[in-house]
Amino acid sequence: MNSIKHVAIIMDGNGRWGLKHKKSRNLGHKEGLKTVEKIIKTTIKNNIKYLTLYAFSTENWKRPKKEINFLFNLLENFLLNKISDLNKQNIKLKIIGKKQFSKKINILLDKSEKKTFKNKKLQINLALNYGSKSELVHSFNSIKNKKEKINEKNVSKYLFTTNIPDPDLLIRTGNTHRLSNFLLWQVAYSEIFFEKKLWPDFNENDYNRILNKFKKTKRNYGNI
Ligand code: IPE
Ligand code: IPE
Ligand code: MG
Repeated sequence: MNSIKHVAIIMDGNGRWGLKHKKSRNLGHKEGLKTVEKIIKTTIKNNIKYLTLYAFSTENWKRPKKEINFLFNLLENFLLNKISDLNKQNIKLKIIGKKQFSKKINILLDKSEKKTFKNKKLQINLALNYGSKSELVHSFNSIKNKKEKINEKNVSKYLFTTNIPDPDLLIRTGNTHRLSNFLLWQVAYSEIFFEKKLWPDFNENDYNRILNKFKKTKRNYGNI
């Protein structure tokens, strides 16, 4: 049976869920946040050490301002209301992506990371303003500036995910079969699960079903 250290999730389908149930994409985002809380709990129950959640991509800035503002308000309220609770549960929060938001959000993110820095039970990597291509370019530039060798170890070292093991599995909800610029380097050997359900409908049973399927998968890494 494979052990699981790291799960990465592309939480897709909020907008469609909202339109279907409440006639508003934004209410889908609100509902999606409930799934985030459930999935965090299940991740802890399964003793998994790293959970990486794709919350906002570098391409998501193309969306209407109203939706972007709603998403960042949701994030702000979530952190204000829940960070103490996450801290009590020994959860560490790390932001991956370029922290270029409003001053208020930047400060809140820094504070949340600092408050939970020493926690050990679970590390949540929240991908915000995250794009894998720009992350890789940043890594190559860092190597060049430090006059180090271009090799796999150094490329990994200068990614946002430095010192974090690569994801064992990647889940994408929302019935869409693409990576959308997420962790392109890190998922080289991850098992990928595309899930039909929209993110707000995804539940603990769906998650456990995927984790159990993963545990029984034969991972070859090129071998036989
Ligand atoms: C994913 O859900 C969440 C974010 C990108 C913030 P979407 O908003 O992409 O939902 P769909 O894919 O349009 O339904
Ligand atoms: C990927 O979903 C980004 C997040 C889940 C945050 P998108 O909905 O933005 O992806 P595309 O645009 O359909 O590929
Ligand atoms: Mg989408």
